[in-house]
Amino acid sequence: MNLTLGNKIVLVGNGAVGSSYSYALLNQGICDDLIIVDLNEEKAKGDVMDLNHGIAYAPTAMKISYGSFEDCKDAALVVICAGAAQKPGETRLDLVNKNIHIFKSIVNRIMDSGFNGIFIVATNPVDILSYATWKFSGLPKERVIGSGTVLDSARFKYLLGEEFDTAAVSVHGYIIGEHGDSQLPVWSSANIAGTPISNRLSDERKEEIAFHVRDAAYEVINAKGATYYGIAMGLVRITKAILRNENVVLPVGTLLEGEYGYHDVYIGIPAVIDRSGVKSIVELTLTDEEKSKLAKSVQTLKDIQDSNKF
Ligand code: LAC
Repeated sequence: MNLTLGNKIVLVGNGAVGSSYSYALLNQGICDDLIIVDLNEEKAKGDVMDLNHGIAYAPTAMKISYGSFEDCKDAALVVICAGAAQKPGETRLDLVNKNIHIFKSIVNRIMDSGFNGIFIVATNPVDILSYATWKFSGLPKERVIGSGTVLDSARFKYLLGEEFDTAAVSVHGYIIGEHGDSQLPVWSSANIAGTPISNRLSDERKEEIAFHVRDAAYEVINAKGATYYGIAMGLVRITKAILRNENVVLPVGTLLEGEYGYHDVYIGIPAVIDRSGVKSIVELTLTDEEKSKLAKSVQTLKDIQDSNKF
C-alpha cells in the first residue's frame, strides 16, 4: 500500500511532455501540490510562473513550484518525463542506451530523498525504462507504472470513434504490448456498448487502423517535431486514477509475473489502478493470432532487457 498520503506530485523533466502534463494537471484540478524538477532551472522557473498565472482560472487552487529531488521525500507520485526524446526517423528503442544511464542517476537521487510513493514513467522506450525504474528503485512492482499503451489505446479509441461516428469514450478496445512497433490491437474484444467491432470492419480496414495507431507518433513527430499533448492526457488519466483511488482499468505499463504466461517484462496491458498503484492485471482472452503477436512483442522487449544491465 502506498505509504505516502496527500496528493503532492513531483515532475522530473520539464520538456514538452512534462510541461504539457503540468498544464493538463492544472486544467483538470487533479492535485494540490506540483513541484517541477529540471536541469534547466531557468526554463522550469519560467514555466512555474506561467502556470501560476493561470491558477485564478483553474478548477482548484494548486501550489506549483520549482524544486529538487529532495522534494520527492513526501510526494505521493513522482512522474518521470526526463530523457532524450525521439527524433524524426528514430524508433523509441533507439533511445534505450542514452536513457537507461540518465534513469539510473535520476532514480537513485529520488530514492535517496526517502521517496516512498508511486512512480509513473513516460520517457521512451517507456517499457524498458519502467523496468529500469523498478529495478533501480527496489519498489514493489505495483508502485512503478509505465504509460504503457495508454496513449496507443486512446489513439485506437479515437480512430474507431471516427470510424463509427461514436464518442471515443464509448469505444472499448485495447492496444497491448510494447509501446512501439510491435504493439498489437486486441480486435477480438473491441466493442461499442458490448457489440463487437471486429466483424463490422474488413481485415484490410482493421490493418489500416492498426497501422495508423502504431505509426501515429512518427506522423506527429514528422509534422511538428515531437508528440506531447496525447501522452500528457494519458499521464493525467493514470494520475487521477491513482489519486482518486478509482479502481479503473487502464492499459498501463506493468510487470508481468506469470500473467499471459510471461515473467519479468514490463509491457502495456489493462490493469486495475487504485491508490496502491497497479491493483491487479486484467487477463484478456486472446485469439491465437493475438497471442502470437503478444509473444513477439514480449520477445522484442526481453531482447532489449537482456542486452542491458539494470
Ligand atoms: C508517442 C510517444 C509518447 O507515442 O511515444 O507519441
